[in-house]
Amino acid sequence: MKVTVVGAGLVGATCADAIAHKDIVNEVILIDVKENLAEGKALDMWQMSPIDQFDTRVVGYTNDYSKTAGSDVVVLTAGVPRKPGMTRDDLISINAGIVKTCTENIMKYSPDTILIVVSNPLDVMTYCAYLTAGVDSSKVFGMAGILDTARYGAFLATELNCSPKDIQSILMGGHGPTMVPLPRYTTVGGIPVTELVDKEKLDAIVDRTKKGGTEIVNLLGTSAWYAPGVAAAQMVEAIVKDQKRIFPCCTWLQGQYGVNDIYLGVPVKLGKAGIEEVIELKLNKDEMALVHASAKAVREVMDVLDNMNAAK
Ligand code: LAC
Repeated sequence: MKVTVVGAGLVGATCADAIAHKDIVNEVILIDVKENLAEGKALDMWQMSPIDQFDTRVVGYTNDYSKTAGSDVVVLTAGVPRKPGMTRDDLISINAGIVKTCTENIMKYSPDTILIVVSNPLDVMTYCAYLTAGVDSSKVFGMAGILDTARYGAFLATELNCSPKDIQSILMGGHGPTMVPLPRYTTVGGIPVTELVDKEKLDAIVDRTKKGGTEIVNLLGTSAWYAPGVAAAQMVEAIVKDQKRIFPCCTWLQGQYGVNDIYLGVPVKLGKAGIEEVIELKLNKDEMALVHASAKAVREVMDVLDNMNAAK
């Protein structure tokens, strides 16, 4: 098995590192436009192998996509990150160009690959990659739900002073302030979270989750990388091991949840074929309204991309 990570920045390098440490594929190729960046980081990672005892070969290249040929899974992290004061949508014009070029290069050498998009604005960059790749949507999808759910779970574990391992939850919608954490689908060791945390505290946690990325941007002056990197690596693992795990992923919807032709975070089954099933929850009216509001916000940014493409 061969996995390529495009972009050797903080998210891409963290992702490649996490995949190598899982020891689940033969080869991780790291690729970046910046001269020697991928080579250097990949070499450093490979030098961890005798210490941390993994076999995965990690090799880096500067923009040479021929070395990515035959990848089973590609994680696309290329793009500029957010700076303080920028929304993810401000990034659209810069990152759409980068995502398009990278996707063309990836598909040229790995036409059968599964493509996981991590670049922001996430939902719309996934759409951009899908338009460029020209393959079935089951093979092009985005990482965000695992990250946002993890933030929600981490905040709950802090509040409850319990193990984050015991938190199970679902979060839907776009990767931005309209995302929809779902307390009704959140349990702690099998106990509904609503029995353990009062409404006011839960509302505050939901609110903090929605702003989770921005909180880190404000602290660090750039976007997060540890949790985004390992979230993408977890998706890679589900695919290469055909685990059929249930995760929220940014997925092309065709009528599910009453929306059409839009990339949005929903729970799916992830296995070797990519998205093997879109799971439709029986949302109540309020939850559905929040998901539709999020879809509307994502649609507005998709329209920006469509108008940019039409103007060309
Ligand atoms: C975040 C960025 C990666 O949510 O979108 O941290």
